[in-house]
Amino acid sequence: MEQLTLISRFGTHHLPIETDTTIVHLAKKHQVRWGYACERGNCAQCRTKVVEGSEFLNEITEAEKLRLRKAERAEGYRLGCQIKIVKQGRVELAHRPY
Ligand code: FES
Repeated sequence: MEQLTLISRFGTHHLPIETDTTIVHLAKKHQVRWGYACERGNCAQCRTKVVEGSEFLNEITEAEKLRLRKAERAEGYRLGCQIKIVKQGRVELAHRPY
């Protein structure tokens, strides 16, 4: 079964895939500690490295283009409040705030 793996300094969590909802929302729902504040793409407290499964995620949002440097985006960094899974597949994400 496809799953979402969330890695933070508090541990590794395996969750069922849910589409069309943000990673910050999913983390909250499953009581996974994943830093966030604004949920609008401004604060970057939810900065996330996509380790695996970028092909199953939504396109980078305008907020991410404004908040993250191009080099960061090229290395796979995104914002957890902007990432949504759009189709079933194995996804692994790591919380990497500044
Ligand atoms: S929660 Fe502020 S940028 Fe994601």
